[in-house]
Amino acid sequence: MGSVAKRFYVTTPIYYVNDAPHIGHAYTTVTADAVARWHRLLGDEVFFLTGTDEHGLKVARAAEANGLTPVEHADRFSARYREAWELLDISNDDFIRTTEPRHYEATQKLMQAAYEAGYIELRPYEGLYCVSCEAYYTEDDLLDGMQCPIHRRPVELLKEENYFFKLSEFTDRLLEWYQANPGAVTPESKRNEAVGLIRGGLRDISISRTSIKWGVPVPWDGDHVFYVWYDALINYATAIGYGRDDARFDAWWPAVHHLIGKDILRFHCVYWPALLMAAGIDPPARIAVHGYLLVGGEKMSKTAFNQISPAGLVPTFGVDGYRYHFLRDQAFGPDGEFSYEGMVSRYNADLANNLGNLLARVSTVVERKCAGIGPAPDPDSALRVFVESAYEQIADAWERIAPSEALEATWRLVRETNAALEAAEPWKAEPGPAVDAVLGDALEILRIVAVLASPALTRAAEEIWRRIGMDGSVLDQRLPAAAAWGGYPGGRKVERGNPLFPRLQG
Ligand code: MSP
Repeated sequence: MGSVAKRFYVTTPIYYVNDAPHIGHAYTTVTADAVARWHRLLGDEVFFLTGTDEHGLKVARAAEANGLTPVEHADRFSARYREAWELLDISNDDFIRTTEPRHYEATQKLMQAAYEAGYIELRPYEGLYCVSCEAYYTEDDLLDGMQCPIHRRPVELLKEENYFFKLSEFTDRLLEWYQANPGAVTPESKRNEAVGLIRGGLRDISISRTSIKWGVPVPWDGDHVFYVWYDALINYATAIGYGRDDARFDAWWPAVHHLIGKDILRFHCVYWPALLMAAGIDPPARIAVHGYLLVGGEKMSKTAFNQISPAGLVPTFGVDGYRYHFLRDQAFGPDGEFSYEGMVSRYNADLANNLGNLLARVSTVVERKCAGIGPAPDPDSALRVFVESAYEQIADAWERIAPSEALEATWRLVRETNAALEAAEPWKAEPGPAVDAVLGDALEILRIVAVLASPALTRAAEEIWRRIGMDGSVLDQRLPAAAAWGGYPGGRKVERGNPLFPRLQG
């Protein structure tokens, strides 16, 4: 085509290894995966990163509770995330662990740059400390008698020297950045929340600890390690070669799209851009913030005993059913409620009935009326205009990271085609040009939908492609050409197979 491929770098948060993967973590990961797959279809050069966050007190404690060293614990839990992502067909190009040498190197280099620029300094820090917890408390947190709420033992007044990042010096630069880049944080409500935090006044933040050893050492002072969040954020720079391969880093940065849940907005939308500025690096191009997936009206957590794992749902719904549900059902932005019943009914309506039925009907009628050979579509079909306008909407929705809208528009094509078949009733008609035209159009829609739905339906899309007689893989198709009307060649053997999405009992 002669045009230069665009670069698209997309990230998920790196997940703490003190918890096992649940559908909330998977929500961000599946969304990032679908968006990455869409951009690959567009012909963009894509780099998709996920990984695990392995330092800090929480992880050190979880390891201790399991009788493991932090490294052993991190190895086990990090593997669980990798397995979950394999189960869900996640196509990440890299999986970063913050305990890797490359990450120590990048963290130390980036922090060193901020230190040398004068934005990090050692200051005394005084606080009420529980030695058993290895954590500071404020007076409000304590029980009577200045006791730790967990250990019920008196806290101590501890003075520690911590390195502080001079966040307060970045207020104006952050506000200017938000002003100059109105689309950097989406949705707008989240952008406003971040701007509100900055306007509300920024205090310098403590970024190192001496009380814990499980972290990345501060390069200029071996008594300290960086507080877990400040090494974690840097993973996004590590993975594309920060401090190791400048050309690679410059090629991918700052065209990065961070996908995050709203719980970590402050770290990503305030601290991270400021830290990058301090190190002389541009802030990220885009931070897309989504809401919580609620179960029984509550955020999933270990303590609420309401965690659902992807591995618990895939045996019933399949990988495609799983991915489709969360992408279609939960709009990216607001909170949404997950329910098993809702998942069954959407699966039956959209996958078993709409898409599954379309394929089953078309392949059955092609077998009966066309000797199993698919006819070509009508170049002037009424569906053609419909596809053209749907494509615009679908492409725009993926670009905005709105998979639920993109899939809704894609399924309108499926419904419209089912309606056209019901109106024409080719199963009742004599074989001939009229029957061929209506079946050719339906096959063409199936071809186009296989491409457009492939970011969600990693397996069914290939299966549809194969059954209607197309060569190669959906993954090799390029948009927008592959969505243009007339791509189904006709004359191909159409296979009638088992139901693509067997109906589930409600
Ligand atoms: N380790 C930090 C992130 C560091 S990024 C530099 C962390 N990890 S986490 O394991 O707690 O996962 C956080 C992310 O998981 C959230 O931001 C969100 O993307 C996803 N989710 C976790 N629970 C969720 C829901 N209940 N609903 C939707 N997403 C949720 O914070």
